[in-house]
Amino acid sequence: MPQRTWMYWILFLLLVALKLPPASSSRTLPGTGTAVPLLTLAVQRHTGAAAQVFVSRHGSSSSSSSSSSSIQGRQLLQAWACSKQCAPGSCLLSNYGQLRCYTCLNGFEPTVQGSCGCPGGRYPVDSLGTVTCVRCPAGSWCPGGTDSAGSGINSCSNGLTSKQGAKTTAQCVNPPGFYYSATTAAAVQCPPNTYSTGFGWQSSCASCPGGLMTLPADIGPYTSAAACRLKPGYYLRSWQPVVCNQGSWNAGLNRVATCTPCAANVTTTGPGATSAADCRYLVKGYEAVTVAVSGEITAVRPCRQNAYCPGYVTAPGWTACPRGMWTKSGGRTAQNECFTPPGYFLPADGTSNITKCTTGVNGAYKSGWGSDAACTVCGPGIYSDASTNVTVYDPVTDTSTPDYVASDVSACFVYPGMGMAHQLRRVGNGYQFVGAKCNRVEGVNQHSTFGYTTYTRGLTVRPCRRCAGQLIGSGPVGGATGCAIPAGYAAVGYNGSVLFSTGYVWARVKNVTLCPTGFYCVGGDPTNDAAAQPAACGTGITTAGAGASDASQCNACVDTNAEYTGGSCRCKAGYTAVNMDAPSNSSLNVTWQTNQAGLIGPKLTTGYQACCSV
Ligand SMILES: *[C@@H]1O[C@H](CO)[C@@H](O)[C@H](O)[C@H]1NC(C)=O
Ligand SMILES: *[C@@H]1O[C@H](CO)[C@@H](O)[C@H](O)[C@H]1NC(C)=O
Ligand SMILES: *[C@@H]1O[C@H](CO)[C@@H](O)[C@H](O)[C@H]1NC(C)=O
Ligand SMILES: *[C@@H]1O[C@H](CO)[C@@H](O)[C@H](O)[C@H]1NC(C)=O
Ligand SMILES: *[C@@H]1O[C@H](CO)[C@@H](O)[C@H](O)[C@H]1NC(C)=O
Ligand SMILES: *[C@@H]1O[C@H](CO)[C@@H](O)[C@H](O)[C@H]1NC(C)=O
Ligand SMILES: *[C@@H]1O[C@H](CO)[C@@H](O)[C@H](O)[C@H]1NC(C)=O
Repeated sequence: MPQRTWMYWILFLLLVALKLPPASSSRTLPGTGTAVPLLTLAVQRHTGAAAQVFVSRHGSSSSSSSSSSSIQGRQLLQAWACSKQCAPGSCLLSNYGQLRCYTCLNGFEPTVQGSCGCPGGRYPVDSLGTVTCVRCPAGSWCPGGTDSAGSGINSCSNGLTSKQGAKTTAQCVNPPGFYYSATTAAAVQCPPNTYSTGFGWQSSCASCPGGLMTLPADIGPYTSAAACRLKPGYYLRSWQPVVCNQGSWNAGLNRVATCTPCAANVTTTGPGATSAADCRYLVKGYEAVTVAVSGEITAVRPCRQNAYCPGYVTAPGWTACPRGMWTKSGGRTAQNECFTPPGYFLPADGTSNITKCTTGVNGAYKSGWGSDAACTVCGPGIYSDASTNVTVYDPVTDTSTPDYVASDVSACFVYPGMGMAHQLRRVGNGYQFVGAKCNRVEGVNQHSTFGYTTYTRGLTVRPCRRCAGQLIGSGPVGGATGCAIPAGYAAVGYNGSVLFSTGYVWARVKNVTLCPTGFYCVGGDPTNDAAAQPAACGTGITTAGAGASDASQCNACVDTNAEYTGGSCRCKAGYTAVNMDAPSNSSLNVTWQTNQAGLIGPKLTTGYQACCSV
C-alpha cells in the first residue's frame, strides 16, 4: 500500500518537527491504525507545549481506551483519557475525533491506536504502583504496544528460548545444548558426544572432536565445546586431542595438556594408556622395587646382579640366571649376559649349577668367564687352592657372602720340599707342568733331591735340585728343603778335585768325600755358609787321617820327628828345626822356645821344614 507508507513518512517528519518523542527509526508503526490527520497536528503545533488544551468535539467519536467520561464541547482532557501512561496534556483529540496520546511516560510510547504501549522487546510491569516497560526476559517474546501490567509477554514454546528483549516469536530459538527440529519446530536436546551453543536454529549439534566425548555421567545439556572431555588415553595439544605416549596415561573425562607419566623407567604396553595401573611394564635393565596393589610399578632399580631384566614384563621384572650363573654387573637385559664366573665350571650334564673347581692335589683353576665344562688342571702332582676372594651374590635371597675361588694360575702351587717342572713329553701345544715331592734318601751320595723352603705358586719351572751331601729340612709333604755337607766331608767337583771354596751351587758338586787329611770339615751348606769349606789344620800340623770334622782333630805333626804338644808341633828331644838357609837368611825366624825342662826344640813355624837330629 504505497499511499499509506507515504503518509507515514509525512507523520514521522512532522513528529520530529514538533519535538515529540519519535519512535525508534528502526521501528515500524503498527499497521492497523488510522491515518493521522494533518489538521490535528497543526493544532497542537499552535498550542505549543500547553499541559491542557481546549478542543472542539466533532462527531461522536469516543476515547479509544481509558477515558470513561464523556466530553461535552471544549473541556479539559485528562492525560489518562488516552492511557495512564500518557503525559499530562498530551492526550489530544484527533481530526477524526479520536483521543490520541502524543507523549507517553515511563518509557511508554504512543501507539497507533492512540494509546501508550511498551516498545517491542519490553512489557509493562507494575513496581510499587508505577508501571514501567521492562526488558522482555530470556525465554519470552514481547511484541510491545500494551500498557497494562503483566500483559504483552509470551513464552517461547516447544522448549525454545530467546535472549532478553525478544520482540517476536521468530526470536525463539533452540537453547544451548539443543538443536532445532524444523519438522516439529521444537528444541531437541543434543545427544551425548555432541554439543550446541544454541541461540540459533541449528539443525544439528556439533560433534565432539575425535578423542573427545561428553562425560557419561553428565546428562546434559551440552552447551559448548567445553562439555567435550578427553577420552581415556588422550591429552590436549593445541586444543586437539592426542593419544597418550607410551609410558604415560590419562583416565580421560578431563581436559589436560599432558598425560601422567609412569614412574621413571616404567612404561605401558603402548600408547593410549588409561590408568596408572597400566604402568606395569619395566624398561629393559630395570626391576621393580615397589608395586601398588593395582600392579602399577612405582619405583625401580637397575636389575640385580646374577639376573637379567628383559624389559616389557611386569613386576618383579628380573629372572635369575640359569644354573646359578653370574652376570658381570647389574643392569643386564638378556640371558646371554649370564656366564660361568672365574673359579667355576659349567657341568656338561646341561642341568647342574655352576660348580667350583676342585682344589687340592691334582687341583684345577678356571680363569675368565667362559662356560667351560671343566676347570683347567694345574698339572699332575700340582696342588690348587681357592686363593682369590670373591663375593658370591644370590639373586633369590638378595644376599652376598664372601668366598674364595681358584680363578687363575696363582691357585696352582706346590709345597716347600716339592719341585715343579715341565713334563718331559709335550701335552697339547706345550709342556704340561708337573709337581712332585723331592726324592729323599737318607745318607750321603744317595742321589737325593731337595726342594725350596718356600711355596712355589703359579705354573713355573722350579725343579728339585740334586743333593750330593746330606738332606736337611723337610716340607709339609716330606720333601727335603735343603742339602748340606755332612761334618767330616768335603765337596768334590766334577773334575774330581775337592772344592776348597764356598758359594758354589750344588749343581757343581759331583759328590762329597771324606774331609782330606790335614783339614777338618765342620759341614753345613756351602752355598751360603763359608764355614762349610774344608779348613787347613796349620803349618806342620795335620790330622790323623781323612774325615776330620773338628779343629781338635788337627792333633798330629807332619814331621815324624816332631810331636804335638800344647796346641803345636815341636821337635822331639834331640831334634832341632831344620832350615837350610838359617842363620845366614835373616828373613827367616826361629823362635827358640824351651819347655821348663829345656828339652824340647823350637816351635815349628813358617819356613821350618823338619826336625833333624842335632
Ligand atoms: C632410568 O633410566 C635412565 C637410563 O638408563 C637412567 O639414567 C635413570 O637413572 C633411570 N632412573 C631411575 C629412577 O632408575
Ligand atoms: C642352583 O643355583 C640357584 C641359585 O643360586 C639355587 O637357587 C639353586 O638351589 C641351585 N640348584 C642346585 C641344584 O644347587
Ligand atoms: C680379599 O682380598 C683382598 C686383598 O688381599 C683383601 O684386602 C680383602 O680384605 C679380602 N676380602 C675378604 C672378604 O677376605
Ligand atoms: C779342578 O777345578 C778347580 C777349580 O775349578 C781347580 O782349582 C783345580 O785345579 C782343578 N783340578 C784339576 C785336577 O783339574
Ligand atoms: C767321589 O768322587 C771321586 C772323584 O770322582 C771318586 O774318586 C770317589 O770315589 C767318589 N766318592 C764316592 C763316595 O762316590
Ligand atoms: C832366604 O830364604 C828364603 C826362603 O827360603 C829364600 O827365598 C831366600 O832366597 C833366602 N835368602 C838367601 C840369601 O839365601
Ligand atoms: C823374627 O822373629 C822376631 C822375634 O820374634 C820378630 O820380631 C820378626 O818380625 C820375625 N821376622 C820374620 C820375618 O818372621
